[in-house]
Amino acid sequence: MSGTTETGGQTFSPPEVIAAGANVGPEVYEEAAADRLAFWAKQAGRLSWDRQWDEVLDWSNPPFAKWFVGGKLNVAYNCVDRHVEAGHGDQVAYHWEGEPGDTRTITYAQLKDEVSQAANALTELGVNAGDRVAIYMPMIPETVISMLACARIGAVHMVVFGGFSADALASRLDDAGAVLVITADGGYRRGAASALKPAVDDAVSRSPGVRNVVVVKRTGEDVEWAEGRDLWWDDVVGRQSTEHTCEFFDAEHPLYIMYTSGTTAKPKGILHTSGGYLTQVSFTHWASFDLKPDTDVFWTAADVGWVTGHSYIVYGPLSNRATSVMYEGTPETPHRGRWWEIVQKYGVTILYTAPTVIRTFMKWGEDVPAGFDLSTLRVLGSVGEPINPEAWLWYHRHIGGGRCPIVDTWWQTETGGHMINPLPGVTSLVPGSAQVPFPGISAKVVDDEGNELSDDSTGLLVLTEPWPSMLRTIWGDDDRYVDTYWSRFGKNVYFAGDGAKKDADGNIWLLGRVDDVMNVSGHRISTTEVESSLVGHPTVAEAAVVGASDPTTGQGIVAFVILRGDAVDSGDELVQTLKTHVAKDIGPIAKPRQIMVVQELPKTRSGKIMRRLLRDIAENRELGDVTTLTDSSVMNLIKEKLPAAPSED
Ligand code: WT7
Repeated sequence: MSGTTETGGQTFSPPEVIAAGANVGPEVYEEAAADRLAFWAKQAGRLSWDRQWDEVLDWSNPPFAKWFVGGKLNVAYNCVDRHVEAGHGDQVAYHWEGEPGDTRTITYAQLKDEVSQAANALTELGVNAGDRVAIYMPMIPETVISMLACARIGAVHMVVFGGFSADALASRLDDAGAVLVITADGGYRRGAASALKPAVDDAVSRSPGVRNVVVVKRTGEDVEWAEGRDLWWDDVVGRQSTEHTCEFFDAEHPLYIMYTSGTTAKPKGILHTSGGYLTQVSFTHWASFDLKPDTDVFWTAADVGWVTGHSYIVYGPLSNRATSVMYEGTPETPHRGRWWEIVQKYGVTILYTAPTVIRTFMKWGEDVPAGFDLSTLRVLGSVGEPINPEAWLWYHRHIGGGRCPIVDTWWQTETGGHMINPLPGVTSLVPGSAQVPFPGISAKVVDDEGNELSDDSTGLLVLTEPWPSMLRTIWGDDDRYVDTYWSRFGKNVYFAGDGAKKDADGNIWLLGRVDDVMNVSGHRISTTEVESSLVGHPTVAEAAVVGASDPTTGQGIVAFVILRGDAVDSGDELVQTLKTHVAKDIGPIAKPRQIMVVQELPKTRSGKIMRRLLRDIAENRELGDVTTLTDSSVMNLIKEKLPAAPSED
């Protein structure tokens, strides 16, 4: 603990034990500033390349970047084989823990064998380099093995979070043009088996391009079977050779597509490629968390179905030869101390999670973690939304025992890896701020015209130089890529979609999205996506959706709907029906917290819904300026209809 900020908050200087032996020291910032491209080239040199690149960055056609031009590598080889070849085959890659309590320990040598078998199976099934493979899985080792098998043969994986609906899966299969789906019968969540195969059957029936479905047996529950199309993983992978000679691919060869919500109803397929992506996720994982491969036990408590899992459960940790924990289930199963029991059992030293989970733990009380030995922890991470100082301090004290730096990492699906965060052995921490751009990253806060703002003013966050793990395009839609990210301030400035403030000490404070994207428990959901689902229901004529601040999930989804003339307002029953409809349409994470049936929606004269006013209502605030409304009595009509309190389900 070392002082206070200008605003009076406490700051925390790097603990002596971490600063003394840290992977990177303060000089890293100067080094990167002196020659950004040389700095990233040095980090690329931490990987194993089959052919050295000719040029670090080709930015001759912005915003289409090429990093490590002419270089060749194999991402899976870098994550697995090279560690085995260097004599670390017996090191544990994953301590996997199933929700029911079953466990698997997978060494790097075993991982190499299983990835090779899966790669051979994909090839036997006719999957070629460049083909897209969908992965719709629970959190089990085969999920990681599938991703690495794709990378190994140059196929592009497209992981769809297992909580997404059949419709969401179908639209992604179609957009990506997937030829194969890897799934499981189901997984365990909240103490029960939760099926996955029915959604795949439904989605694949609408996706003629999918030739095969490979099914991992996890729960053992009965599944429907399409002869000729469906194959058990154990059969098709199990009989393959554990030998597989990998090919090397261009640094810009596509690695994966990850869909994320934008401001329209159609999700964007964010494309990441190989050399630059692996360079940045590997280096950020090593530097941001001070990862020591020989002694640390690293745990990203997130789902592989999101970018956090891709970069910091799979590619970052494996490329650094980390020993990781991977947990299948939910934090309260079978009891609220499950995470802390896992930390104690495996001696976790670095834990990376999201503010929404921390706030849930706060609600459950500090007595729960106090019942476990958390003394192995040395670094804590946070991601997904701003971490409020209260949650930061609780995490620091009750999980980190007051001794662990908290690394708050700002980044996005699009950025691939960490972009703004403190370094645990270097930075004096300011709770609530993500602080400073990572070395080699250029982030600024600008006004609406793109002028850089003086300290202490609020504006928009932009990234002003290309970075190695940046998205390369939106799959199949270069125009949308340019329009969404590179048109507001020209083709050299990336518009992140976040509001931000830089304080007098140069620390960046993230202030949430400035577009129509909500952040619910660290997951991005667009208001338009939920609105279009609601109007897809036969009873709904019009819908407006806002993200209202929520003490646990950051934002909660609140919907206002106008019913069709012939629809019967059955009160709670209708509201439940609509909630279930959205959950089925998009996935349970998109289920509105609250739905209000109204007669009118507040609109401007040009017909734009005034979400600001709806947010005021949803957050129980005095209404702001209503003078631009076509009809100001509308707001009174809406307020009269308000239910007393938001329902919890
Ligand atoms: C959006 C990106 C990065 C992986 C998880 C979410 C918000 C993310 C932080 C943070 C403040 C954050 C931003 C960003 N966000 N991390 N540390 N502090 N805000 O990835 O779904 O692509 O969402 O999440 O609003 O734009 P994503």
